[in-house]
Amino acid sequence: PRRYRITLLPGDGIGPEVVSVAKDVLALAGSHEGIEFKFCEMPLGGTAIDNVGVPLPVETLNAAKESDAVLLGAIGGYKWDKNAKLLKPETGLLHLRRGLGVFANLRPAVVLPQLIGSSTLKMEVAEGVDLMVIRELTGGIYFGEPRGFGTNDKGEDVGFNTEVYSASEVDRIARVAFKVAQKRRGKLCSVDKANVLEASIFWRKRVDTIALEFPDVLLSHMYVDNAAMQLIREPRQFDTILTNNIFGDILSDEASMLTGSIGMLPSASISESGPGLFEPIHGSAPDIAGQDKANPLATILSAAMLLQYGLGEDNAAKRIEDAVIETLNKGFRTGDIHSSGMVLVGCKKMGEEVLKSLDAQMPVA
Ligand code: NAD
Ligand code: IPM
Ligand code: MN
Repeated sequence: PRRYRITLLPGDGIGPEVVSVAKDVLALAGSHEGIEFKFCEMPLGGTAIDNVGVPLPVETLNAAKESDAVLLGAIGGYKWDKNAKLLKPETGLLHLRRGLGVFANLRPAVVLPQLIGSSTLKMEVAEGVDLMVIRELTGGIYFGEPRGFGTNDKGEDVGFNTEVYSASEVDRIARVAFKVAQKRRGKLCSVDKANVLEASIFWRKRVDTIALEFPDVLLSHMYVDNAAMQLIREPRQFDTILTNNIFGDILSDEASMLTGSIGMLPSASISESGPGLFEPIHGSAPDIAGQDKANPLATILSAAMLLQYGLGEDNAAKRIEDAVIETLNKGFRTGDIHSSGMVLVGCKKMGEEVLKSLDAQMPVA
């Protein structure tokens, strides 16, 4: 069999619930394609703060670096919200992304016909949406210096951050986006705030330069405020969206509501070499944690992205995607995507149903 080492980072809140389910799905789909996984579970986030004293223990980063791919649940919670920055769960996640160098975050949003009723938009608007947000993940205002707290020249207290992008940072994320667009419908919309921000003017100029390498992709530019509006007005106009770290964070949460629930959206974070990081776009959902209510499909679909983008195991990835569709076809729904006539299930039961759907698939020839 083909063998891979997977680092599991369950994290906090609903993280452990959804990762435990997604791990079983990954293992079973893999076994049906002759793949064997060796899983290694490590602490990250609030759990790591409580048990090891820091949100990203060196052992966790090293294990992640030495594995073939990393599957993450979510981190964060009220308990650690007031911690100093270096002792926040979110800091652990940001350092992990930086440590792995995973600068390209792929966040697909697909409106499935089975869930069209769960979208908060009118059916005619949401129907058929299939877009991909490419979010720059290791630069921009999240990491720019200077940052901090201080006093201004009037002696008043201030907080400040810096949005900065280098040419190489924009070029490499733009190339990823153009390549993704090539494999999709050949349309790329770069989203920025070039009417106001120098970092965005620079971003737009570099994207235009890289576009010369991809004459087969139709490139457009849009301001982020308009993009936020267009996503709700006419989401089908979008194929691939390229944007910076903070705009991508916000627009991908917005895009998730087209699909019905943030509990449906997976993501892949990749670099030019080395292991990728795969995680749902949602957080630790402290309001429903520990109640077996979380929708595990975003994490299960992240496991499919791990197979496809992380390991090149497209057949096994397809098995998971098909099994998810089949499970929805059978009517199983967690609370966030539930509608009348459907079978309301918890996180575990949803996982078991996906496993059943996997087992019902044709065995490998
Ligand atoms: P959230 O995504 O955790 O929750 C927002 C809402 O969506 C909540 O009502 C929650 O119950 C619901 N929700 C989220 N995932 C769900 C799922 N799988 N199934 C059903 N419902 C789901 O965002 P938040 O409340 O703003 O943040 C909570 C904590 O998570 C914070 O500490 C935040 O920093 C952290 N966070 C972590 C990540 C991550 O680990 N990548 C991402 C976002 C937020
Ligand atoms: C996400 C989250 C993170 C981000 C936070 C928790 C640091 O919102 O993965 O979308 O802003 O990137
Ligand atoms: Mn987010």
